[in-house]
Amino acid sequence: MDNRAIGIFDSGLGGLTCVKKVMEIMPEEDIIYFGDTGRVPYGTKSTETLVKYVKQDISFLESFDIKFIIIACGTASCAVLPNIQNEIKTDIIGVLNPTCRRAAELTQNGKIGVIGTQSTISCGNYTRIIKGINPDIEVISHACPMFVPLVENGYTSGQVARLIIEEYLTPIKEKGVDTLILGCTHYPLLREEIQRFMGSSVRLVNSGAEAAVEARTQLEQKGLRSGGGGRGCVRYYVSDTVDGFEKLGSVFLEQPIDGTVQKIEIEKY
Ligand code: DGL
Repeated sequence: MDNRAIGIFDSGLGGLTCVKKVMEIMPEEDIIYFGDTGRVPYGTKSTETLVKYVKQDISFLESFDIKFIIIACGTASCAVLPNIQNEIKTDIIGVLNPTCRRAAELTQNGKIGVIGTQSTISCGNYTRIIKGINPDIEVISHACPMFVPLVENGYTSGQVARLIIEEYLTPIKEKGVDTLILGCTHYPLLREEIQRFMGSSVRLVNSGAEAAVEARTQLEQKGLRSGGGGRGCVRYYVSDTVDGFEKLGSVFLEQPIDGTVQKIEIEKY
């Protein structure tokens, strides 16, 4: 039993889709969330820059007494975590491995689509991990760089979203995938339009939610679940203004933000 908080971070607000799942399946856990809103997006940055950012994000979370870290960012999980995992003192997971395992379990026809940011797709780790699980699975991946700005600006449904979804997802749909990994934690906000376009038989895999499920498994195995009976508290930190965080954040969380929001100087970490 361990009542310390779980640290979760993302380049911005997308990681709140993971927080939502953690709150749902482990309501008694305290959470410290960091959204690097001053430096978002990560998906277009070089690996060198991303390594610096991710190390700072982790060291900020480690400045609290935390027991576990979830990288709720597809880009940081794919393009950075595999290279720095051994250097991190705290138990840490990203979205990559649990999401690949889930997709490999779900596919019936052995065709999995993966969508994510440019960095996530070009590092090739989704394909590598899925092929490691089952070399017969065909992986069709596609970068969708306009999805993050679309979501951050509130275009999660309607004509504009549909046009861009059609543009990006047509090659994946034409390949006949039966499972589609939403490899960026912003993308669940587009899930209704993506599902509509792909068809109801295609299973969508929410990477932030899969990381939350994996975190619960690991915390249980290590005897680190909180013993508190009540509802855990969530503290939010951002690297840019707190203005608008509650409004936009509640869209990602699909419930009002109930917790303190504070701006920090991430460059100090
Ligand atoms: N949520 C981040 C991810 O999963 C957003 C991408 C970005 O910052 O570009 O990759």
